[in-house]
Amino acid sequence: MTEPVLLSPIKIGEHTLEHRVVLAPLTRLRNSENGVIQDRVVEYYTQRTTKGGLLITEASIVSPAADGYLYAPGIYKEEHVEGWRKVTDAVHAKGGIIYCQLFHVGRATHSSHLPNNVLPVAPSPIAIKGKSLFGDDFEVPHALTVDEIQTTIQDFVNAAKNAMKAGFDGVEIHGANGYLVDSFINTSSNTRTDEYGGSIENRSRFALELVDALVEAVGANKTAIRFSPWSGFQDMEDATPVETWSYLTQQIQTKHSDLAYLHFVESREGGHSDDVLQEHESLEPFRNIWQGPFITSGGFTDPKKAIQRCEDSPNNLISFGRIFIANPDLVERIRNDWPLNKYHRPTFYTQGNEGYIDYPFYTPEEKDGVSDEKPDEITKVTEDVAIAEPVTATDTAATATAEDTIEQVPETTPPKDITPPKDLTPSDSETVKQTDDNTNTKERDIKADRRKSKKFNKAKCVIQ
Ligand SMILES: Cc1cc2nc3c(=O)[nH]c(=O)nc-3n(C[C@H](O)[C@H](O)[C@H](O)COP(=O)(O)O)c2cc1C
Repeated sequence: MTEPVLLSPIKIGEHTLEHRVVLAPLTRLRNSENGVIQDRVVEYYTQRTTKGGLLITEASIVSPAADGYLYAPGIYKEEHVEGWRKVTDAVHAKGGIIYCQLFHVGRATHSSHLPNNVLPVAPSPIAIKGKSLFGDDFEVPHALTVDEIQTTIQDFVNAAKNAMKAGFDGVEIHGANGYLVDSFINTSSNTRTDEYGGSIENRSRFALELVDALVEAVGANKTAIRFSPWSGFQDMEDATPVETWSYLTQQIQTKHSDLAYLHFVESREGGHSDDVLQEHESLEPFRNIWQGPFITSGGFTDPKKAIQRCEDSPNNLISFGRIFIANPDLVERIRNDWPLNKYHRPTFYTQGNEGYIDYPFYTPEEKDGVSDEKPDEITKVTEDVAIAEPVTATDTAATATAEDTIEQVPETTPPKDITPPKDLTPSDSETVKQTDDNTNTKERDIKADRRKSKKFNKAKCVIQ
């Protein structure tokens, strides 16, 4: 029997992949509070590495000003580079290829989490509706000036160069899901009247300038970008999505046809609901424009669907989120049609090893049907951390939004402090001491205050 296209080679940048089963970027908050990689993170990526397989890292903060969350990794300091180097070495030792996702949180963070308590930034002074992960209302962000936009682009360039120093094979700009880059693109969050707002060309300018800058800094064949034209997460809405992302795609096709890949999120809610894709929300217009490798993400919880997608669109790869969290050996499970472990949502964003590096690899003794049951050790985690299983849209309403998902968390769920688990490696605190200059002290103080405030609610956490 011939192998499906999903399991066949494709060229990405300077590498020929042996298959198209990609690890999607997945924020897991298992790093030190200042974003330094921990040993368990090395183990997590190693587990998911296959020879000739592509991994995309969790979103990695490009500068202190871009920060948003405790325990998300950074890629702007020497310690970050050293930490990531352990991951890239381990992945390369197994023959894998790994790209670093570059992240600016934009208006989704809070001033108490930023250096000097400055306001979060955005294209325009429009707050996200509702409460942030910290329990406060989202703040009205500071609209970046043109000079500040250029500084931000430089932050991405520095981060991309750091990623190269850390041994990454390439970088992916996080241009999706309502964070800074995406908020420039959408009409709902960008009401500027200068050259970065208004027309499609102007709203696309920041994303395209970022691509240009990274191509110049590290090369087109090491640069990629991720978009989510249909996501409504964090109030994203665009008046003309097909036209807007067609323009972006066309510009990249024309100027940088040798970009490593384009990565599009297909579903509306990016991993927090099994949303039914509306017909008019297709990625086909963008697939038809882009001639290079095209990674599709979102809702491929049944590998058969992924197999079919690649048969239909031969330059496609599929990035898997939730089922790659739960199945470290996903590639072999797909290849052999073995059953899948079920993912465990309450441990998506917690800080221990549980629900992170303890999902079982398939063993022949495993009975068919394991996919319907939580592995014992994963189920136990729920009791250990006393987080109620959220009643999520994923498991209930196909058309629910991410906001619905948040609202449906039972109110009895106590907000949890995210005090680091006891098993965090000692190097975490040591790293901070060793680099105790003013910036780090300030950074640490802010984060310590935030942690003490006990407002960061794990049960309501959605970062994507
Ligand atoms: C726990 C979790 C963390 C995520 N973190 C990120 C992230 O850091 N960057 C990003 O671009 N998308 C992120 N996403 C979205 C995923 O990359 C992916 O697009 C989404 O889960 C849909 O794919 P799936 O249906 O295979 O899970 C996250 C999703 C989940 C569930």
